[in-house]
Amino acid sequence: MTSEINPALFRSVLGHAPTSVVVVTGCDASGQPFGITIGSFVSVSLDPPLVGFLPGTSSRSWNAIQESGHFCVNILGADQEDLCWKFAKEGDDKFEGINWTPSSTGSPVLPGVIGVIDCSIESQDVVGDHYFVVGRVAQMSHVENADTAMVFFRGKVVSATYPTA
Ligand SMILES: Cc1cc2nc3c(=O)[nH]c(=O)nc-3n(C[C@H](O)[C@H](O)[C@H](O)COP(=O)(O)O)c2cc1C
Repeated sequence: MTSEINPALFRSVLGHAPTSVVVVTGCDASGQPFGITIGSFVSVSLDPPLVGFLPGTSSRSWNAIQESGHFCVNILGADQEDLCWKFAKEGDDKFEGINWTPSSTGSPVLPGVIGVIDCSIESQDVVGDHYFVVGRVAQMSHVENADTAMVFFRGKVVSATYPTA
C-alpha cells in the first residue's frame, strides 16, 4: 500500500458520489462477446466527440474487448438491475439468455437500455490500478423521454426519476 488512505474509507467516501451505471460491451478477436458494469463513465469532449471510462487493469473482459479496437456503452434504465449485477461478476456466461444485437462496429447492444454510444478506442493510459480509456463516438442514440435512470449510491442501485413539472 503506497498511501495513508484506508481502502474501506476510500470506497465508502467515493460511494457517497452517485454515478451512472453503464455496461461496456465488445468482442474479442474471435468474436466472443464480453461486458463489464461500469460506474466511471464520463463525457470527455464534444469536438471531437469523446467519452471515457476506467476499467481495472486486471479486468478480463476489458483486456478481451480492447483487442477489437471498439466498444459500446449501454446506459442502463432503472429497471435493469439484473443486468447491472450480471455484468459485475467475473465469468464466461454473462451473455447467456440475453438477446443482444450488434452495434455498427459489432459490439453487443443490450435489450432495453436507454442509451447507446458506439465507439472506437482513441487512447488507453494506465492510471494507478486502472486504465483511462477514451473512445471516439462513431454512433449514438437514446430512447425518447426516458423518465427513470439507474444510479449507484452507497453500494446500492437506486432509481432517479425525471421531474414531471
Ligand atoms: C455499479 C458498478 C460500477 C462499477 N464500476 C466499475 C468501474 O468503473 N471500473 C471497474 O474496473 N470496475 C467497475 N465495477 C466492477 C466490475 O463490474 C467487475 O469487477 C467485473 O467483474 C469486471 O468484469 P471482468 O471480471 O469480466 O473483467 C463496477 C461494478 C458495479 C456494480
